[in-house]
Amino acid sequence: MKVAMGNDHAATDLKLEIMKYVEELGHEVINFGTDGYESCHYPEFGEKVGRAVAAGEADCGIVICGTGVGISIAANKVRGIRAGVCSDATTARLIKEHNNANILAFGARIVGPELAKDIVKAYLSAEFLGGRHKTRVDMFAQIENRNP
Ligand code: RB5
Repeated sequence: MKVAMGNDHAATDLKLEIMKYVEELGHEVINFGTDGYESCHYPEFGEKVGRAVAAGEADCGIVICGTGVGISIAANKVRGIRAGVCSDATTARLIKEHNNANILAFGARIVGPELAKDIVKAYLSAEFLGGRHKTRVDMFAQIENRNP
C-alpha cells in the first residue's frame, strides 16, 4: 500500500521511526511531514495528508502530532477523510473494521514507539467489514453533502 504520512515538530522522531517500520512491513511511504524540530503548524500537514488520501495518491494515511488530535482535526476537514486518534491497537483495528478510517492518528507525547508500532500494524492489517457498518459510514458523506 501507499501510505501518506504527516507530522509536526512534536512528532519528528516518532514519525521517522514509524516510517521505517511501515516500509519494513512492505509498504511505500510518502512523507508530507516535517523532518525538523522547529515549531511549525500541524494543520498544514494534516491537510496535506488528507488531500493526498482523498485524491487517491495514497491508499491511507498516518498523522502524528503531540496528541494526535490537532492533526486529525485538520485531516478530517478534507472531504472524504475519516481520521481517528488511537492510543491502543484494538481501537486502531476497529477504526478500520467499523469506521473505514482512511487515516490513523496518534500522539507522540501520548504513546511510545513500541505501542505506536502495534497501533500501526493493527490498523494496516485490518479490513473494513462493510455490511451494517457501510450504512453508517455512508452517513458521513451524507453529512458532508448537507454542509453549505
Ligand atoms: C504542538 O506543541 C502541539 O500543540 C501539537 O503537536 C498537537 O499536540 C496539537 O494537537
